[in-house]
Amino acid sequence: MSTDTQVSNRWSSRYAYVLAATGAAVGLGNIWKFPYIMGENGGGAFVLVYLLCILLIGIPVMMAEVIIGKRGRSTPANAIAHVAAESGRSSHWSLIGTIGVIAGFLILSFYAVIAGWAAAYVFFSGSGEFSAAAADPATNADVIGALFTELITSVSQLMVWSTLTLIAAIYVISKGVKKGLETAITYLMPALLVLLVGIMFYSAVVGDFAAAFNFMFHVDFSQLTIEGALVALGHAFFTLSLAMGIMMTYGAYLPKGVSIVKTSITIAIADTIVALIAGLAIYPIVFANGLEPSAGPGLLFQSIPLAFGSMPYGDFVGTLFFIMIVFAAFTSVIALLESPTAYLVERQKMSRTKAAIVAGVGIWVLSLCSIYSFAGAEWTKLSFGMGGDIFEFLDYLTANILLPLGGIFISIFAGWVIKPNILQEELHLTGTPFVIILILLRFVAPIGILLVFANAIGLL
Ligand code: TRP
Repeated sequence: MSTDTQVSNRWSSRYAYVLAATGAAVGLGNIWKFPYIMGENGGGAFVLVYLLCILLIGIPVMMAEVIIGKRGRSTPANAIAHVAAESGRSSHWSLIGTIGVIAGFLILSFYAVIAGWAAAYVFFSGSGEFSAAAADPATNADVIGALFTELITSVSQLMVWSTLTLIAAIYVISKGVKKGLETAITYLMPALLVLLVGIMFYSAVVGDFAAAFNFMFHVDFSQLTIEGALVALGHAFFTLSLAMGIMMTYGAYLPKGVSIVKTSITIAIADTIVALIAGLAIYPIVFANGLEPSAGPGLLFQSIPLAFGSMPYGDFVGTLFFIMIVFAAFTSVIALLESPTAYLVERQKMSRTKAAIVAGVGIWVLSLCSIYSFAGAEWTKLSFGMGGDIFEFLDYLTANILLPLGGIFISIFAGWVIKPNILQEELHLTGTPFVIILILLRFVAPIGILLVFANAIGLL
């Protein structure tokens, strides 16, 4: 097969693959987004729906993506076309890959801006701003709040940070840094986990852990709206980096003999644990300081500095913490830039460097929309649909529309279009476990997504 020669790269081991995929999955979605959307959507019931979506929809869709990538051994659109051809089906299914590229492009335009916030916070923490604010407990929360507002309304500061982030990502992608990235992730991911767990224990001691635990795990369905369920579903895709072709790309590099079932479950569990720990690190502080769980995108940036400010060596640990977030975000930024870059290389026959620059510049221009949204510029205010600004619109469009839509197509493609024996061969499963996965892909995933989706956008 000619496609077989298109990717000759393989991960060096099962471990390297799991780590790289976990690196792409764990990012701002876990530490920044999950805690605040849980707060906006009422806590426990939202968490339960999110966990169900990961288990019943996210994991099977991830397996499907990896299977397609591994079987096709090439970039997403080609891999899909290859697998479709093998099953005697139309190559038009490769459009799923295109939806993913578009979603990745749009997501990166605001993701890079938020990564920039984290970068700025490395310096705030390093220069002792948090401990200075904590000197007066009476005004502490206000000062920290003002610091945040000042940052996100400063167009020039945000532009500097997101520009640096994108330049670094373009550099890395144009070099194709498999080695550097693999090594970096090997150290960064465990360090991130250790720091997060440390902060969680610290929060448990100084904050209101019981309230946080109750908020996250006490299921009260009256707090959940259908809109909230869609947010949980969309976030399951976002946090696992699904429906963007990334898992197909990584699957294409999968060495022979690695279990797709086991590795997918491992990656999903690791990602979920990081998100839950982030929640348990942030919420005790939120409740102990009377902050609003529904504070939105600023939640992480307003609660964590309060903890660090009053902690021994807090400025130092806080600096480390935000550095870790920057790294967690950066590994995702790189993976996100990879998909439009690979697309341009394949479709427009550009060189890797040129493609990375073209995609990066496009994303940079679009990132201005999010930057100006935070600054409250009039032109970013949208009157149509749900109101809000362009940032909120891009976030909604990607997480709640494009990703679930991609998820429906991928599960239908894997469940109905390709031959079941291909699935079976790649999963190395027989009997009941295989039937369960087939049922999830054929019925549960597409119908579940469709129901939530249609309900939330008002069709049902
Ligand atoms: N999963 C990442 C996070 O939680 C965000 C993300 C979504 C992503 N899609 C991606 C990262 C594709 C890399 C590639 O922050």
